[in-house]
Amino acid sequence: MRKLVAGNWKMNGLVSSQAEIEALKGLTGSATCDIVVCPPFTLIDRAVERVKDSNLVIGAQDCHAQQSGAHTGDVSAEMLADIGARYVILGHSERRVSHGEDDEIVRAKAVAAHRGGLIAIVCVGETRHERDEGRAIEVVGEQLRESVPEGATSANLVIAYEPVWAIGTGLVPTNEQIEEVHAAIRQMLEERLGSDGNSVRILYGGSVKSSNAEAIFGLRNVDGALVGGASLKASEFAGIISAAV
Ligand code: G3P
Repeated sequence: MRKLVAGNWKMNGLVSSQAEIEALKGLTGSATCDIVVCPPFTLIDRAVERVKDSNLVIGAQDCHAQQSGAHTGDVSAEMLADIGARYVILGHSERRVSHGEDDEIVRAKAVAAHRGGLIAIVCVGETRHERDEGRAIEVVGEQLRESVPEGATSANLVIAYEPVWAIGTGLVPTNEQIEEVHAAIRQMLEERLGSDGNSVRILYGGSVKSSNAEAIFGLRNVDGALVGGASLKASEFAGIISAAV
């Protein structure tokens, strides 16, 4: 399966940060994977213009479930598609925690993403406590079952497994732990989507760097990465992308 490497800039990036996108274009011209950059809302429009005629595409980090209306401060999937975004990250643990987004909200947003023509990158992942209790697969399974909407296909859905304790900490699960969770996700996707579940890309996210990317990409059922901190510098992100063959 063709790999996908997505960069989640989170709440980072000013107008001047477009230089990183420009640099990334220059460094990834011969990449053999799909590449997505998800800057903050404020930069999406400019970023879309920048990546025209390149192999980079732009995504967002969230969307509202409604198409329009009285939702101060929110942005809809249709608005994102309108300015050229192609993907949207949904259910990131930072939003689940700090914005109280539960599986039902994530699913409603995924429905909205599909309605607007965006590819939803749905994030799942256990906390340290849940892993220590031996509940990682159970937690991820529940999130997956409840967050993935009807109508999901390999063309409009990507799953990102991001153990909460690995995000921004420098901690990475063992290869066995990653393969175990990714295999469970694959199985659940097959149960849910039939043979098409085989073609849904499952990304790993959490402290991915150019130094560990090759080993992670070599694991069974790892179809790419969702990268936070290491996606902010073009040279480092390009190192990760070049490992995704
Ligand atoms: O969505 C990406 C993410 O949460 C991982 O962040 O900084 O550990 O790569 P980081």
